[in-house]
Parts: sequence; structure tokens; C-alpha cells
Amino acid sequence: MSKLMPLLSANFGQITPTSVEEYIGTGGFTGLRKALKMTPQEIIDEVKTAKLRGRGGAGYPTGAKWQQLYDIKHFPKYIVCNADEGEPGTFKDKLFLEKDPLRVIEGMTIAGYVFNAQEGYIYIRGEYAAQQKVFQEAVDQAVAAGYLGENILGTEFSYHIHVMTGAGAYICGENSALLNSLEGKVGRPRVKPPHLAEVGLFEQPTLVNNVESFANIPTIVQIGGEKYLSYGTAESGGTKLICLSGNIANPGVYEIPFGITLRDIIFDEELGGGPAGSKKVKFYHLGGQSGPCGFLPQLDTPYCYQALREKGLSVGSGAIVVLDESVCVIDYLLTVTQFFIHESCGKCTPCREGNKQIHVLLEKLSQGKATKADLQLLQRLSNLLPKTSFCGLGQAAATALSTCLKNLRSEFEAHLTGNCPAGVCFTKQESGEQ
Ligand SMILES: Cc1cc2nc3c(=O)[nH]c(=O)nc-3n(C[C@H](O)[C@H](O)[C@H](O)COP(=O)(O)O)c2cc1C
Ligand code: SF4
Repeated sequence: MSKLMPLLSANFGQITPTSVEEYIGTGGFTGLRKALKMTPQEIIDEVKTAKLRGRGGAGYPTGAKWQQLYDIKHFPKYIVCNADEGEPGTFKDKLFLEKDPLRVIEGMTIAGYVFNAQEGYIYIRGEYAAQQKVFQEAVDQAVAAGYLGENILGTEFSYHIHVMTGAGAYICGENSALLNSLEGKVGRPRVKPPHLAEVGLFEQPTLVNNVESFANIPTIVQIGGEKYLSYGTAESGGTKLICLSGNIANPGVYEIPFGITLRDIIFDEELGGGPAGSKKVKFYHLGGQSGPCGFLPQLDTPYCYQALREKGLSVGSGAIVVLDESVCVIDYLLTVTQFFIHESCGKCTPCREGNKQIHVLLEKLSQGKATKADLQLLQRLSNLLPKTSFCGLGQAAATALSTCLKNLRSEFEAHLTGNCPAGVCFTKQESGEQ
């Protein structure tokens, strides 16, 4: 039986992305038409029944988030779609933007109707200039066809979507930094509480959801929450778009039902197809640079929020980077840490300085200069960052390190005695290179 489940991605490559007519031909806007005949609470109840969880990384239950905002009786409210997609190894929102933007527009419009909002914003990362163009064109076409803009489908509901550009900072994917950036301020995270549902964009109640989260909404409304839930597991409703990359035979984006195992994802011929070359899989990095690394004994874990969490793993953004035996864990973590040093906004000390110190210690390990005390300090820093950093970036920066320290300890210790099991470190010194 196929392990693919193209519930949301069925239109990819099949229709002209900006054609309202072709979108309608595949069942598009049926969700919106149905939603406009429902009460907002009925729609929220379907999202709750579906057990949809946010696809941006944190996995917060979308129904609960919608209920919180709905219960706040303060207007105007704003809808914001997070299309910053800055998490390395993650490239699935890009496909919605360029291959089926009308689905995202439909999801955002249903949200606009639920919260009686008149303005929606989509914040697209600057690197996605081509996708932004397609999305804007799709917005224009939807307005022209009466599915967006004034008096949508002849109702009293009017709703506009504004397409905005990010400037390439990873921190601007964090929802409060994103709102600051949208307001024209420096993209740094805000103190929470107050939560964005109360004080969000322009200090008004605001919904921030990921592109894939919004893309789910038309289907949930169309087929009902119960049916949608049945595609996944009892607690993780529906499907997930995963992004496979690294040392893998078939890199790419795949839509899978929740519940198949990590082994299926990495090794099944229809999906990852196993490692790219002759080397065996050593570990895999889940959910982007801020996610945990998984190891061989965890391969039979079902891919769903609960089962992964029980094993100290997570879905995160849906990224899965596979690393084979040619990869040195220290060398890999050096690149992860470089990313966080580059992207730290510098507001708080644990993240700004802690990542630099982690890098210093990893470099010492990679050069064969580290001591046991250095390894202990590395462990302490990996415990410290999640507890003391101001926002999610610093809180998650040492997650990969922690999981590797726990599961590949012997490889760290080997470096203390000048031995790199992957044969990556020390070769420069041995060959006399500078
Ligand atoms: C440093 C950082 C970067 C983030 N980047 C993104 C991103 O690129 N896209 C995204 O949807 N969520 C990102 N998030 C998560 C958002 O803060 C937020 O949880 C999400 O947009 C909520 O939508 P969801 O509930 O639909 O997942 C990031 C969080 C952090 C801490
Ligand atoms: S943890 Fe601190 S320094 Fe790092 S990005 Fe967040 S606020 Fe900025």
C-alpha cells in the first residue's frame, strides 16, 4: 500500500497555480463556500475535531488557538500567514506558494470569516521572490473572481490579503518578531505575555499560522474534522508534508499520513529510498536546525506528535536531514552552531554568547585540543541555553547538541583522544595543511 497521501498537495504540478477556474475544477473554494454558510464556532469546532496542530514548528493545537482568539471580543482582528520558512532543510511552504497559492488564500479567507477580520497579511521570506510574484498574481485573480476583496461571493464579508516581504532573518519567523517586522520595526521577539491573540499586529488581536496550517483549513471544512482526523493517528490529525534532504537517495517533499514510521520515511523506495551512497545511516535531524537528532534505535517510532515526543523527538517544521557514516557529528554540530551564531538577534546573553562558546568548544574537539572539562562545559551549556534564553531561537539552539551528546557520546569522547570515527577531523593537521 502506498505510504503517500496527497490530500493537500494533489494540485501540485497539475494546475496553473494562479488560475481560479482550474482551482475550482479540482474542488477549490468548496471549503469557503461551505464555511460562509456555517457559524464561526462551527468551523472552529471542526478544526478542533480534526486535531490539526500548527505546522510551523511548535505544533500548537490550531483549534485551541482559534478558540482563544475567537473568545476575545475586541476588534479589528488581523490574520497573518507565516511564510518565512527560514528553518534549514525546510522547503514545503515554498511549494504551496508556487504550486497551489489559492489553497492558502482560501484557508486565510476562511480564517478571516471566522474572526470577522477584514485584513490578512502573508509574510513571505525575501529569498522567495519568484513565489511572492506567483502568490500576488493569485491574490489578484481571486479578487477579480469575487473570492477575495469586497463582498465575497455576494455576502457582507469583505476581506483583503496583503503580500509582504521578509529580509532573510531567521528570527523573523518567530511570530512576535515577524509582527514587529511587519510593522516596520526591528525584527526582534517581544515579551510574552501579552499573547499575540490579545496584543498582536498593531497591538490588535491577531492570528498567526503557518502556510501549511492554513492550507489544511479548506479540506477540514470541506470533508469535516472527523474524516480529516481519520487520515492520521488518534491524536495527530491528517497528513504532513515532510522535506527529505542530506545523504538520502530520493530528496524532496512528500505528503504522508501521520503514523508511518521513521524507518518507512527514510528507507521506503517510494519515499527516501535509504542512504544515497554505500554508507549506512548514522543519524537524522528532525524539524530543522532547532530540532532534535534521532538515532538508529528510534527508527521504528511512528511519525506523529505524541510518539516522537515520547522518544525525545519532534515533528517541528517537517524537515528530515539524513546523515550517513561519512559525517562527523562534531563537524555537523559546528555547522548547526554557526547557523545560530549568525541568526541570533543578540538581544539576550545566553543565546548571543552561549552559541559562540559552544562553537569554541566544538572547534577544540574537532582539533583534538579539548579536555574532559571542555566536554563537561559543553554539556552544561547545552542544559543552560533552553532554560535561560529569551525566545524560541536560543531555547532550541542546543537541542541537536543535547541529543547527540546523549546518543553519540562515544564519538565525542573519541575526539578527546585525537580519534575522529568518521575520519573527517584532524586530517588537515596530519597532512600539514593550514
Ligand atoms: C526562531 C524561530 C523561527 C521560526 N520560523 C518559523 C517559520 O519560518 N515559519 C513558521 O510558520 N513558523 C516559524 N516559527 C514558529 C512561529 O513562531 C509560530 O509558532 C508559527 O508561525 C505559528 O503557526 P502554526 O501554529 O500554524 O504553526 C519560528 C519560531 C522560532 C522561535
Ligand atoms: S534567544 Fe535571545 S538573542 Fe537569541 S534570538 Fe531570541 S532574543 Fe535574540
